[in-house]
Amino acid sequence: MKINEILANRPVVPLVQADDPTVAVKTSRALAAGGLTVVEVVFRTDRALECLQAVAEEVPEMIAGAGTVLSAEQANAALDNGARFIVSPGLDDGVVGVAQERGVPVYPGTMTPSEVQHAFNLGLDTVKFFPGSLAGGVPMLKALGSVFRTMKFMPTGGVGPGNLAEFLSVPAVLACGGSWLTPAAEIAAGNYDAVTALAAEAVEIASASRG
Ligand code: 3PG
Repeated sequence: MKINEILANRPVVPLVQADDPTVAVKTSRALAAGGLTVVEVVFRTDRALECLQAVAEEVPEMIAGAGTVLSAEQANAALDNGARFIVSPGLDDGVVGVAQERGVPVYPGTMTPSEVQHAFNLGLDTVKFFPGSLAGGVPMLKALGSVFRTMKFMPTGGVGPGNLAEFLSVPAVLACGGSWLTPAAEIAAGNYDAVTALAAEAVEIASASRG
């Protein structure tokens, strides 16, 4: 099944930010136990690449992608280490080009009509909408969706249990992403049950909202 189809079924993408592969694996397993199927390992730590590789190898029940990918070089490194999709905070032709050449989905960040149009003309059918809550939230997504009729959006940034249903109710929204599912304090305390509970809560909200 294609990743977009999987996301349409389970429209929540948790961020995993870890500097220790063991922690990344435990966090990803906890998210899977809560019912999530896709995880974004973000390139924001020195050992992020190792974390991605560990999750890709050791948590086969999860589809692992790389997030916060800033350059074509990082995109290649991510794909060499098991990433099955690429997410960027912004829209960069080099990053998109690497993903397209290597045949994997890429979700670059956009927040303006010009950026969405640029992504459209690069041949993309899905973009990240970031930072979702600051970039105009649901009203902005509805406005963009009415112009770019075929484009799907993945809002992240300021999404949480309080507004997840609202974001998912926009027809142009494929899925929502965010770090609320992986609170640093709970993970530092080894409280992976809290991560599982947050994942299960998100699955429930998504099911109620999407039917
Ligand atoms: C991202 O990279 O998608 C954002 O950092 C997610 O934002 P959040 O931390 O507000 O969920």
